[in-house]
Amino acid sequence: MHQPIGIFDSGVGGLTLLDKLVHALPAESFEYYGDSGNCPYGTKTIEEIRQHTIRIMDYLMQKHCKMIIVACNTITTNIIDQLRSIYPMPIVGMEPGTKPAYASSANKRIGILATAGTINGQLYNRTLESFNDKAFFISQIGAGLVELIEQNIIEQARMMQQLEPLLKPMIDAHIDTLVLGCTHYNYLTNVLAGMFPYPIEIIDTRDAVTRQVQRILQEKALKATGTERSVTITTTGDMEMLKQILKRLHLNDEVVTLVKVSAY
Ligand code: SIN
Repeated sequence: MHQPIGIFDSGVGGLTLLDKLVHALPAESFEYYGDSGNCPYGTKTIEEIRQHTIRIMDYLMQKHCKMIIVACNTITTNIIDQLRSIYPMPIVGMEPGTKPAYASSANKRIGILATAGTINGQLYNRTLESFNDKAFFISQIGAGLVELIEQNIIEQARMMQQLEPLLKPMIDAHIDTLVLGCTHYNYLTNVLAGMFPYPIEIIDTRDAVTRQVQRILQEKALKATGTERSVTITTTGDMEMLKQILKRLHLNDEVVTLVKVSAY
């Protein structure tokens, strides 16, 4: 049987990773689940995040996924260990991005933009502590950004207004590298670059996660062998909005099946 790779997120953020994976792994089938109907997760309690995640994981289990990718930093940092203890298949999470940021930063002044759930999460803080004496990090909660991105409000003035006060402390601190600590923020790369008054290195970890997925498929002998594959995107949100957001990505040369399911 041709088993898909399951990939999920609180909404449309993880599609930016799916976009990479579909091109990097042309033989693999993908089953994507975006929980836009319950987004955002970044302001939810850990228990709420856990309940939503278990519902999605059970859905992906029914699709016989051979591996799961948690394309959401908030879920990864808070409950990925729990998921690994419950489910039998390999589970890959998002990387924090601090290591590549440290390597790339010239002045070792690094900004991190992430949700409240990520910035307060244990895994995130453990990772950051290991760099504490080597670099200056400034973490900023991206309040309201995910909600705007879910409505495809990205290059508009409304987004700039939301971003301005969030970026000011980072600009004042002269960071030279910015980590996107939420897959939704990948849609903001150009907007963010344009809002800094000087050139800035923007780090996202999609390539690192893609390499990790390739490594696990190889090591666990899970690579697909057939020539036919399928890509399915399931949403609990608004189908028309999903179609608008998909136009921003490069999945158009693929036959993608879109599915709408209830949010609960
Ligand atoms: C959110 O739903 O708040 C975004 C979660 C994330 O990607 O960290």
